[in-house]
Amino acid sequence: GKGEYDHYMAKEIDTQPTALSNTIEGRVENGNVAFEDLPVGTFADVETVQFVACGTSYHAAMYGSQLLRSAGVRAEVLRASEYEQTAGPVDENTLVVAVTQSGETADTLDAVRRATDRGARSLAVTNVVGSTAAREADDAIYIRAGPEVGVAATKTFSSQAVTLALLTQRIAADVPTATPVDDREAMLESLEDLPEHVETVLETTNAESLAREYIDSDSYFFIGNGLGHSVALEGALKFKEITYEHAEGFAAGELKHGPLALVTQETPVFAIATGDDEKTKTNAIEARTRGAPIVAVAPDDHPIADAADRQLSIPDTHPVWAGLLANVQLQLVSYHAAALLERPIDKPRNLAKSVTVE
Ligand code: M6R
Repeated sequence: GKGEYDHYMAKEIDTQPTALSNTIEGRVENGNVAFEDLPVGTFADVETVQFVACGTSYHAAMYGSQLLRSAGVRAEVLRASEYEQTAGPVDENTLVVAVTQSGETADTLDAVRRATDRGARSLAVTNVVGSTAAREADDAIYIRAGPEVGVAATKTFSSQAVTLALLTQRIAADVPTATPVDDREAMLESLEDLPEHVETVLETTNAESLAREYIDSDSYFFIGNGLGHSVALEGALKFKEITYEHAEGFAAGELKHGPLALVTQETPVFAIATGDDEKTKTNAIEARTRGAPIVAVAPDDHPIADAADRQLSIPDTHPVWAGLLANVQLQLVSYHAAALLERPIDKPRNLAKSVTVE
């Protein structure tokens, strides 16, 4: 049950440190990534990786796909519902990775079936042991987040992103043409601190007062670049689904190509810092010039904080994990905004936890 919590979502946000420790447990040894049933060399034949997913899982897949490309492996991320029309060539050297918390999402299962019919090899990254995705795929990796009851995906996003980051290192280690990132060791080392850093965010967050301050706004925008883009999209999805307020996420550099027309004093802009954030900073300044309140989601000493009216602070960490800490702050903002608006947080109207129709 939800115990002392008012909502499952609050519990699921709050238990992320434990969920993440379970996700990581035993998977990094002596600077190498190991997955239970997938021996070294298992991805040696992989030439291209196609991630397929929907909703929040798609945002986690964006994260993974960017990391894999930066390790020199060809990778793309496709919306599972668009797979039929948008997937490029697939063969036996294609690994299709289905990212699905429930393992039952019809669009995602359909995309995997289409890819495997054309000869691709498949891997399910899921939370549910024995789910359809886990059973149908050639291999499965579990994110080990524990059961998630709230319709809004929270802890499973964090665990998916970490699992996928680890998977990219496992794949890059096997693929002969890959160029594993130089600071791989530092990245894996700082992963050990992630559960503690999430704990710090949970203990020190000012998300509730921030939500209260901006609750009467017209619209809420989330911007980021690189890994921050996926976090911006996820921040906006969470916000709209549980508050019923209009929210949108953008790649920071896209703001001036259209959405800036919507920016006023009544549209707070959450600027998400994940490391290389020059574009996020300059575009946040553009929005600020148009009167928008800017909320930096960033470490205290980050340059983006200078361009902001308010801040949701995150601990300093490796850039690969910073976006996950920013995302926890955004989960909390959405939760508190929805609570202030008295929305049915765990069961938003019109939505289902697992979407088993196409
Ligand atoms: O079970 P899945 O991960 O395949 O679900 C995909 C989406 O329906 C899901 O991530 C949805 O977007 C979230 N519940 C939104 O919070």
